[in-house]
Amino acid sequence: MEKTYLEKIEEASKFLKEKINEIPETAIILGTGLGDLINYIEDSKAIDYKEIPYFPVSTVEGHSGRLIFGVLGGKKVMAMQGRFHYYEGYDMKEVTFPVRVMQKLGIKRLFVSNAAGGMNKEFKVGDVMVITDHINLFPENPLRGKNFEELGPRFPAMTEAYSHKMINLADAIAADKGMRLMHGVYVGTPGPTFETPAEYEYFRIIGGDAVGMSTVPEVIVANHAGMEVFGVSVITDLGGKDIKEVPTHEEVQKAALKAQPNMTSLITAMLASL
Ligand code: HPA
Repeated sequence: MEKTYLEKIEEASKFLKEKINEIPETAIILGTGLGDLINYIEDSKAIDYKEIPYFPVSTVEGHSGRLIFGVLGGKKVMAMQGRFHYYEGYDMKEVTFPVRVMQKLGIKRLFVSNAAGGMNKEFKVGDVMVITDHINLFPENPLRGKNFEELGPRFPAMTEAYSHKMINLADAIAADKGMRLMHGVYVGTPGPTFETPAEYEYFRIIGGDAVGMSTVPEVIVANHAGMEVFGVSVITDLGGKDIKEVPTHEEVQKAALKAQPNMTSLITAMLASL
């Protein structure tokens, strides 16, 4: 008989528990072009997604993706190298399955990163933006369907989806480092198209500062799970009615690559001061 969703979460987390000595307190999901942080994780142990029972397997990147367990900023972490995007065809339960496994493992804190297009006129390509809030424009909420009370409440509040304490910590560290750190609202869209000029304009008018194709589903589930969330966007392109540049995946990757030392040092310093 097909296993239930809860059984699949249980089996995946049991498998991981047997492989690792100590449960990390923090999980990190790395966005497009932002995988370099992995190289700073000490004493690391990698587990391929394809080894983990019921874990979705990446289809597009040529490799299956891996979980990296180790130490960053002196703290035990679990990092996801490769995430599951809704535009790839995964359903919302698959996109957010890793977050449920984190919950089952007992992980209390989630750091998420992504590459995003900037609508805020103050932003420059290469900026790092702390996500202060989001607007969910995915066609489906990952919590749609039967609610499992053991995972979280039917109607979770999203009033502080991104921990104010963590945002303040990021600001203090950026000030200390003399690092330019923007704040903004992330608009989550299904993709895979980049926006039309009118869409970038619309997202700005409704209160968005940056737009991307990920993060929101994982953050919703992490909040449902009672986890503390911190999110950053790396601004890889700019959009709006006066902007002539055409965004491409290659450009997004290049800009993310350039900005990631800033992001990595911010996250590492945050972990060190937790
Ligand atoms: N739009 C949507 N997603 C993105 C963008 C963008 O401009 N840049 C990087 N991810």
